[in-house]
Parts: sequence; C-alpha cells; structure tokens
Amino acid sequence: MKAVTIKAFGGPEVLQLVDAPRPVPAADELLISVYASGVNPVDWVIRNGSNEAMRSFLTLPLTLGWDAAGVVAEVGSAVTGFQPGDAVYGVPNFPGNGSYAEYCAAKASQFARKPQRLSFIEAAGVPLAGLTAWTGLFGHGQVRAGQRVLIQGASGGVGGFAVQFAKAKGAYVIGLASAGNLDYVKQLGADEALDYRGQPFEELVRDVDVVLEASPQRDNRERLKAVAVLKPGGIFVSVNVDAPFDEAVRAALAQKQATGEMAPNQPRQDWLTEIAQLIDAGQVQVVVSRVYPLAEVAAAHRESETWHVRGKLVLEIRPENAPA
Ligand SMILES: NC(=O)c1ccc[n+]([C@@H]2O[C@H](COP(=O)([O-])OP(=O)(O)OC[C@H]3O[C@@H](n4cnc5c(N)ncnc54)[C@H](OP(=O)(O)O)[C@@H]3O)[C@@H](O)[C@H]2O)c1
Repeated sequence: MKAVTIKAFGGPEVLQLVDAPRPVPAADELLISVYASGVNPVDWVIRNGSNEAMRSFLTLPLTLGWDAAGVVAEVGSAVTGFQPGDAVYGVPNFPGNGSYAEYCAAKASQFARKPQRLSFIEAAGVPLAGLTAWTGLFGHGQVRAGQRVLIQGASGGVGGFAVQFAKAKGAYVIGLASAGNLDYVKQLGADEALDYRGQPFEELVRDVDVVLEASPQRDNRERLKAVAVLKPGGIFVSVNVDAPFDEAVRAALAQKQATGEMAPNQPRQDWLTEIAQLIDAGQVQVVVSRVYPLAEVAAAHRESETWHVRGKLVLEIRPENAPA
C-alpha cells in the first residue's frame, strides 16, 4: 500500500511516499481503508522531532496522521459493533502508524460511524480537533447552557469546533481570532468575535465562566490576561498540554478560587458519536479550507506550520467514490 512515512526527523523533505506493508489489525482493532486523513499541527511537531517529551515515545520509520475517515476493511476478533463496509471516522493509535496511508489499523474504541451528511474528506477533518474541543469544553471545562465561554484560536481547527459545540450546548460564546477571520467566527455562531491583535479582550470582556486556550500561544503572561476575565470560581482550560501553567498563573487562579486544567484530547467513541449527531442535525459545520493529494503532503505541512489555517486541511487518499 501507499503510505507517507518518515525515516528521520526533520523538515517537510523527510516526508516520503513509499510502498509499505498493509497493517494487520490486533484483536481490538479495525483495519480501515482510508479515504482521507486530516492534517494537524501534531503531525509536523512529530515530523520535526522538536518535542523532546513526545520523541521518546516514537519509533522510526513512522507513518504520520492521526485523523482518519474511511471504510472498515477487517474487524479484529474481539471487536463488536462494526462490520466490514461500515463508513467510520476516528483517531488512529498514538503513538503508532497513522492515517497518511491507504490502510491503517487502529483501536476500534477510537472510531465511530462517520456523520452521514459528510464526505470522507470533510469527516477526516473532525476527529482530532473535534475531540480536543470536546475534551476541553465538557471534559475539563464542564460548560453548561447559559455560561459565558471565551475561546482563543476560534478560527482554527480546535477553536472552530469549540465555538460550534459551545453554542450547540447553549453557551454564550466569545471568540478571539485575527481581524480577517472575525466574520468567519461569527458565522460559526459566536455571539462576539474580537481581534486578538487590535482589541484587548482583557479590557472588553468580563465574567467568563470558562476560557478555552485553543490558540497556539504558550505564553503564561497572556494566560494571566485570560485568568483576569474569569468569574470567581471559573475554569481556565488549555489544550497546550506541553506548556504547563507557571507559578504566576497558578497564583492568579488561586486568588480567584478558579481552576486551571490541561486537556489532552480523549479519543472516545461516545464523544465521536455525539459529535456526529450534532453534525447530522445540522448544528455543526465542517470547514475544510484546502484538500491536498497524499503526494503533496509536504505542502500541507508547510501550510499548517503557518498556524493560520481557517478550519482544517485534509489529505485525499482515495477518491470519494473509489471502491474500498
Ligand atoms: N490537547 C490536545 O490533545 C491537542 C490536540 C490538537 C491540538 N492541540 C493544540 O491546540 C492548538 C490549536 O490547534 P489547531 O489544530 O486548532 O491549530 P490551527 O488549526 O493551526 O489553528 C490555530 C489558530 O490559532 C490562531 N492563532 C495563531 N497565532 C496566534 C497567536 N499568536 N495568538 C492567538 N491566536 C493565534 C489562528 O487564528 P488566526 O488565523 O485568526 O490568527 C488559528 O486559527 C495548538 O497549540 C495545538 O498544538 C492540542
């Protein structure tokens, strides 16, 4: 099968389109015939080997890609609830070989039925970013109807889903993005959208129940501004788990009896199913800003590395109507 692997850490040039053996699913896994794979910042962070903590988990050569949509080709002996031919979406095993490949073996518990109204391309843009938003908002932030939620990075992959999920659950949503994306964030459903460069949110926003840091900022001085807009007892959730809160942030949270939470995404099947229901009900849209063929994966990485993608980037691996 065709796959994009790395044999060494480095720039986009280390991505190689190779012939690789088709994986064999373990008892608790599915073999998925992959139609499309999402591209996420973690892909190029792994590729360039810059994250020391992550690097120690990785074995080369490695097939990248942790966002898949496709059709079940084989079902492991202990798997229930899936049949060959089911259209699915989910998160491949991490660490492990991923979805930049024609086939991928992955834990069945990390996959669910694909939203029916989405193409494979659209569905591949959902799992990792969607689950990260869900984990942050509901797993850690405990967001409820009527609460005020501030989302940083609201035009990106994680933030764009967070805006829509929080709205779907009845929250009042304030999204931060750059000036050119404010209309987009409003169109996703945000009640207010502010330019993080030109409008100081710390002066314009207050009484926030939950802040979700879904921007790439890993700056504890910026976090202090976000803590300042929280209500007493509020929750600051960061998805940037590689950048812990410093002493000043912890002290500011304590002064407000507020909580600080780090949110590593949880690849839960029940959450993927709930997200699919929201999508099929028309409450959540999936914005794919660009589709690249698998062979152009290096260009997709270069675009993702700008940190200014609106919505999602996706790699097409098989044409939508190709046989599985
Ligand atoms: N916890 C986890 O398991 C997990 C999983 C996935 C991602 N993440 C993390 O979540 C963050 C977002 O990931 P993503 O996939 O959504 O990335 P993305 O699609 O590239 O989106 C990033 C967004 O952040 C905004 N942004 C860029 N620079 C900024 C700055 N200096 N200040 C404020 N906002 C800025 C951009 O908005 P504009 O273009 O409008 O400027 C962009 O829309 C990343 O840090 C990523 O590492 C964590």
